[in-house]
Amino acid sequence: MVMVKIEDDREGAIEAAVAALEAGGLVALPTETVYGLGADATDPRAVAAIYAAKGRPRFNPLIAHVPDLAAAETHGVFGPTARALAAAFWPGPLTLVVPKRPESAICDLVTAGLDSIGLRVPAPSVTREILARLGRPVAAPSANRSGRISPTRASDVAEDLGAAVAVIVDAGPCPVGVESTIVAVLDGRVTLLRPGGVTREAIETVIGRPLDRPEAASLAVDASAEGAAPLAPGLLTSHYAPNARVRLDADRVAPGEALMTFAGLRPPGSAQAVALVDLSPSGDPVEAASRLFGALRDLDASGAGTIAVVPIPEDGLGEAIADRLRRAAAPRP
Ligand code: TXA
Ligand code: MG
Repeated sequence: MVMVKIEDDREGAIEAAVAALEAGGLVALPTETVYGLGADATDPRAVAAIYAAKGRPRFNPLIAHVPDLAAAETHGVFGPTARALAAAFWPGPLTLVVPKRPESAICDLVTAGLDSIGLRVPAPSVTREILARLGRPVAAPSANRSGRISPTRASDVAEDLGAAVAVIVDAGPCPVGVESTIVAVLDGRVTLLRPGGVTREAIETVIGRPLDRPEAASLAVDASAEGAAPLAPGLLTSHYAPNARVRLDADRVAPGEALMTFAGLRPPGSAQAVALVDLSPSGDPVEAASRLFGALRDLDASGAGTIAVVPIPEDGLGEAIADRLRRAAAPRP
């Protein structure tokens, strides 16, 4: 494994990443949300290596990353709504699930056999340059072992998957810090499959109406679940799990617990916390999202048996933060 910092050698990082992807290898790519574990999306053997490296329990569809909307349109069908969303948020933390073009070279292992495809244009210019030079889409889930905390720093990837990747492109910490929002634009309906870096409100402003309510039966997979559990309302799968137990809505800190807090809140017992991270002392949900996964890893590293988490408001990016925290706190399989 080689780790290349783009501030030291941007051109070298791009060349190494493109060469490894062309050879069918795995490359950790920076995105604005989390680091991705990338493979050539047209090469089934390379894509299979993603599943092997992550230890994913089963095949669920992966997001194909492309350098721009023009490239996206060669793989998916974009009507006016999908195009408006792409124009508003790309490059950026939005994945659009649209009908897959039958002539697309993206392999079935990426779509898990569905006739739709999840596409996204990531923000970092270094990653878009790698995608453009490769000339093929890159399938990339978050670069963590299945069920573990998503990586927002190159060192997180090295810890989790260092042995499996050929190259890690280190562009520093991911500025958004939670995964992309996934929106399906299918059969005239626009549905939120996973809250993420673009808020529900921002999407509704662009489409000019509320998002459609998901019809449980019409969705093949729970797109918010890495293990692609069948969509069952009220059923929460455990994901993003630290070793420590996660206790939500804490109004006090018990002895031996670590504390994840927000907006300067210091519930009783805080002074005795084994470790403490305030996601955003000023109460900014954007800053809180960017620090969420790093904070989970750091609090976990304190060795505390339980991470107590204060209530965090669910407006704006708070919806994605709450979703990830509920998964981190869900009973483990
Ligand atoms: O921010 C992100 O989205 C990151 C970075 C690396 O781009 N990627 C990411 O990938 O979070 P992953 O594999 O952890 O999550 C992708 C989700 C899956 O839960 C999958 O079910 C959903 O996208 N998905 C992909 N294609 C889909 C499709 N055709 N229909 C429904 N869901 C789809
Ligand atoms: Mg993931």
